[in-house]
Amino acid sequence: MEFKFDVSSILPSSIVEVNQSLIPPGFTGDRRFLSNVVAKVADIVDIMGDASAAAQGLSKPITTADRLRKADQTVYLLVDRNAKNGKGVVTGMLKTGRKSLYIFDRDGHHYHIAPPCVLDFYIHESRQRQGLGKQLFEHMLQKENVEPSKLAIDRPSEKLLSFMNKHYGLQNAMRQMNNYVVFDGFFPEPTNVE
Ligand code: ACO
Repeated sequence: MEFKFDVSSILPSSIVEVNQSLIPPGFTGDRRFLSNVVAKVADIVDIMGDASAAAQGLSKPITTADRLRKADQTVYLLVDRNAKNGKGVVTGMLKTGRKSLYIFDRDGHHYHIAPPCVLDFYIHESRQRQGLGKQLFEHMLQKENVEPSKLAIDRPSEKLLSFMNKHYGLQNAMRQMNNYVVFDGFFPEPTNVE
């Protein structure tokens, strides 16, 4: 995704984490420029959210800067800093956060938990199926110190289900009434009591 401004000067690495403050990590510029930088990050988040919604056929975006400001969530932005003669383009977005959910296992037992969730995930159409999604997802797993099977996924698309199967061997998704999906391995192993 291209922007009128110089993306590389605002997003300082190939994967940038943004949260409530919308301040890019490592921002050391003059405080007078801060509101301008935040406005540009908000623009990026909004445009990536719109593109993700369009790719998923949704009428409204799941990810907006306004929503991010109000929630304890993280947006990971994937940046190609060399594109556009060094001005950079944003090639992907992944949003995660904890949600309080009722999740049922295959035996009908329910758990009221707040697991880490995949809330929105998008790689630009021109860059899909080139391993960028995996790169972004792996970064998130490492940062959040979580195993793929311990994630709940909000309304996964067929592409994302295929992605989880291909890269992490996760299949036979358990669809929940709240539209989240979990996989085998999500639930704690039962402990044998003698
Ligand atoms: N059709 C089917 N499977 C696909 C497709 C596709 N068009 N594109 C990617 N995949 C899956 C496949 O398993 C593919 O492996 P294959 O090419 O061997 O079949 C694998 O993903 C490729 O892995 P990456 O290259 O690492 O993934 P990519 O960079 O394409 O990112 C993503 C995956 C984010 C799902 C991307 O395809 C995308 O943005 N799709 C459109 C938006 C979308 O569906 N987002 C998920 C919505 S649900 C949610 O966000 C909670």
